[in-house]
Amino acid sequence: MHLTPRLLRRNSHVRLALPAPSAEQVLLAVQAALRAPDHAWLRPSRFLVLQAEQLEQLAEALVAATPDCTQQQADKFRSMMRRAPMVLVGIAHLTDHPKVPEVEQLHTVALALGYVQLVLDELGFASVWRTGDLAYNPQYRPALGLADNEKVVGFLYVGTAEGSKKPLPELHAQDFVRWQLPG
Ligand SMILES: Cc1cc2nc3c(=O)[nH]c(=O)nc-3n(C[C@H](O)[C@H](O)[C@H](O)COP(=O)(O)O)c2cc1C
Repeated sequence: MHLTPRLLRRNSHVRLALPAPSAEQVLLAVQAALRAPDHAWLRPSRFLVLQAEQLEQLAEALVAATPDCTQQQADKFRSMMRRAPMVLVGIAHLTDHPKVPEVEQLHTVALALGYVQLVLDELGFASVWRTGDLAYNPQYRPALGLADNEKVVGFLYVGTAEGSKKPLPELHAQDFVRWQLPG
C-alpha cells in the first residue's frame, strides 16, 4: 500500500466524463468511508448515488422546488446535473447524543467523503466536492429525500477526468505547523 504518494498529488477535477465507477467500486469507496473516525459509533454517513435518469429527475425536482423558476435557472439546474456522469451526495444522519455534538457527526461525514474521493482516485476516477445553495437551501431538501435529522455535507461530482489535470498548488507543510505554545 502506497497511500502517501497518492495523497500528495490528489486533486479535484471539474471536467468529468464516462465511465463512472461501477456499483461495486462505489460500495468499495463507501466501505472505506465507513472507517472514518466516528465518535460513539453513531454511523452518521449516508450516501445518495445518482446517475443518468436519476440526475435528470433531480434536475426537474429542483426546478419544481424553486419558486418562480426562470428558464435560465432551470437550464442551470439541468446543466449542473450533467456536469458528471455520477453525483454522490454525502448526507449526515444526525443523532441527539449527550457527548457527540452535531459538529462532530458532520466531521465524520466530511472525512468519509474525503475517503470516498481518495478511493475513487486510487481506482482511476476523478471527483470534485461542491456545496452551495443545493446543499444548504432548505427548499431543496424534499427533492433529495432528506429526513428532518439529515443534512447535506457535500455533492461529489464523479467520473473520469477529461483534459489535463490542473497543476498542484505549491504548499509547504512547515508554513502550516507550529511546534510550540505561544509565549
Ligand atoms: C466543504 C467543501 C465545499 C466545497 N464547495 C465547493 C463549491 O461549491 N464549488 C467549488 O467549485 N468548489 C467547492 N469546493 C472545493 C473543491 O472541492 C476543491 O477542493 C477545490 O477546487 C480545490 O481543488 P483541489 O481539491 O484539487 O485542491 C468545496 C470543498 C469543500 C471541502
